[in-house]
Amino acid sequence: MTESGSKLRIFKILKIIISSLLITVLLLFTIAAIRTLSLDVNAGLQLAHWEKTNNKSLVIDHHQREELLANFKEAIRIPTVSFSRTEINTTALLEFDRFLRKAFPTVFSSSLVHHELVANYSHLFCVKGSQPELVPYMLLAHIDVVPASESDGWEAPPFSAKEIDGFIYGRGTIDDKNSLMGILQALEYLLLKGYAHMRDFTSVLVMMKKSMVSMER
Ligand SMILES: *[C@@H]1O[C@H](CO)[C@@H](O)[C@H](O)[C@H]1NC(C)=O
Ligand SMILES: *[C@@H]1O[C@H](CO)[C@@H](O)[C@H](O)[C@H]1NC(C)=O
Ligand SMILES: *[C@@H]1O[C@H](CO)[C@@H](O)[C@H](O)[C@H]1NC(C)=O
Repeated sequence: MTESGSKLRIFKILKIIISSLLITVLLLFTIAAIRTLSLDVNAGLQLAHWEKTNNKSLVIDHHQREELLANFKEAIRIPTVSFSRTEINTTALLEFDRFLRKAFPTVFSSSLVHHELVANYSHLFCVKGSQPELVPYMLLAHIDVVPASESDGWEAPPFSAKEIDGFIYGRGTIDDKNSLMGILQALEYLLLKGYAHMRDFTSVLVMMKKSMVSMER
């Protein structure tokens, strides 16, 4: 084989490698572009098909997004701390009660919702469904949080609900005020949209996580 012949072969192999790399990159880029363009940002807010609510739009508007974010931050800022099994900040609990009533006026005033205050600080909400023969469901959340002090190495004060790079920092953000606020905020918006529950729904918001454990038994 001549020198120029082997050079030509190397050149050919290089050409094949480079063009396959280019094709791969182009393919990945196309897939990423299609996925980005077809992404439904409201996907997480859709109900399952069996709920058959296609005639109720579950999309929430920009104002409601701002509102639910502000509500969530306010919930984090109220230090509903359980210091021990029996000791809990009752001032904060009373403040939290007032806050819930202000943030979810429809939940607390709708004739479709039966509300009961249990043992001063816990809440029970029941919504009758139009088809009581269906299996009912219950959602639980607890109001209290464990103590937190900034000296434990928090990047933001634990009751500040400070937003850093799109993340909200604070005690209770993932245990359990996210669930609590999610349940009530969803119920508030569903009621405002005139959504009628098909199955019976109960939500229990307990003051203390410890009492949730005994309820599950
Ligand atoms: C959908 O709309 C129809 C007709 O307006 C109504 O009868 C039905 O109850 C609605 N379904 C739900 C789940 O809202
Ligand atoms: C209890 O909660 C209130 C706010 O509702 C707060 O001002 C107070 O500092 C809290 N007490 C303790 C001991 O954390
Ligand atoms: C509820 O509040 C009343 C009046 O302040 C008090 O007597 C009672 O002990 C409280 N109950 C509980 C379970 O905290």
